Amino acid sequence: MNLEGKRVLITGGTRGIGKCMVTELINRGATHLAIIARDKKRLKELTKNHPDINFIRVYGDVADITVLREAAARIEDKWGYLDILINNAGILSAGPLDELIDEELYDQIAVNFTAVLLLTKYSIPLLKAAKSGGILNISSGLGLLGTPFYAVYGSTKAGLKHFSDCMRRELAPHGIHVTCAYPTATDTDMMQKFVDRKMDSPAFVAVKSLEGLLNKELHVVFGGEEREKDIQLNFEHPEKFDVIVAANYENRKQSSENHKAL
Ligand SMILES: NC(=O)c1ccc[n+]([C@@H]2O[C@H](COP(=O)([O-])OP(=O)(O)OC[C@H]3O[C@@H](n4cnc5c(N)ncnc54)[C@H](OP(=O)(O)O)[C@@H]3O)[C@@H](O)[C@H]2O)c1
Repeated sequence: MNLEGKRVLITGGTRGIGKCMVTELINRGATHLAIIARDKKRLKELTKNHPDINFIRVYGDVADITVLREAAARIEDKWGYLDILINNAGILSAGPLDELIDEELYDQIAVNFTAVLLLTKYSIPLLKAAKSGGILNISSGLGLLGTPFYAVYGSTKAGLKHFSDCMRRELAPHGIHVTCAYPTATDTDMMQKFVDRKMDSPAFVAVKSLEGLLNKELHVVFGGEEREKDIQLNFEHPEKFDVIVAANYENRKQSSENHKAL
C-alpha cells in the first residue's frame, strides 16, 4: 500500500504516537487527513503547520457517539471515501480494581474499546468505497499479557486484538486489511510519570506500526525477544508466568500508583 494521495482518519493525532503518525503519513505522501481530538487549540496548531494538507478537524471526545458520526459524515460529504482508519486515541487509569474510580473504569472502556468498534463501523462504507484500504488499531503490550493493576486498561487492549482478528477476516473479501500494534512503554504524555525508565520513542512506534499496516502484517509487537518469550510462556504455561509476576508484586503495585492519562 502506497500513501501517495491517500485519505486517512486518525483519532488522537495531536500528541504522542498519533502526532508522530501524522508527520509520517504526510512525509509518505498522504494528502487528506481527518483528525479527532479534544484539545481544539492543539489540533488547530497542528494543522496550521501543514498548509498543503487537506484537513478535516473534528473537535471532541471519541466516547461521544455524535462526534464519531460527525467525523464519518464530514468525510463522506467532503471526500466520498477513506483509504485508512487509524484507531489510536487511548486513555489509562491504573491501580487495584477495587480502588479504581467507577467513572474511570467506564471511560477507559468507552474510549479504548467502544469508540474503536463504533468508528470502525461508521468507516466501513467509506473504506469499501475506496476499493482497497486498511485499518490500524493501536492496542498495547498490556493487551497481550494480563498484568495486575492494569486489568481494565489491559482488557480494553486485549479486546482490540480480538476485534482486529475478527474484522481482518470479515473485511478480507473487500480488500481491507487490518493490522493491530502492541507498543510497550513509549515516551509520551501517557508515561510522563516514568521519567527515568528506558522507553521507545513515539516516532519509532509510529513508523513501525504504519509500516506494519503498509506491509499487511497482522500484529506488530514491540518489546523485542524478551517480550515475545513472555507472551509465549504466558500462552503455554500461564502458571509459570504467575510466579514471575508474584515475585515483584509490590513493585508493580507501587509503580501503578497514580498512573493516569485521562
Ligand atoms: N505511551 C505508551 O507507553 C503506550 C504503550 C502502549 C500503548 N499505547 C497506546 O498508544 C495510543 C497512543 O498513546 P500515546 O502514548 O501517544 O498517548 P498520549 O500521548 O496521551 O496522546 C493521546 C492522544 O489521544 C487523544 N485523545 C485521548 N483521549 C481522547 C478522547 N477521549 N477523545 C479524542 N481524543 C483523545 C489526545 O488528544 P486530546 O487530549 O486533545 O483529546 C492525544 O492526541 C493509545 O491508544 C495508548 O493506549 C501507549
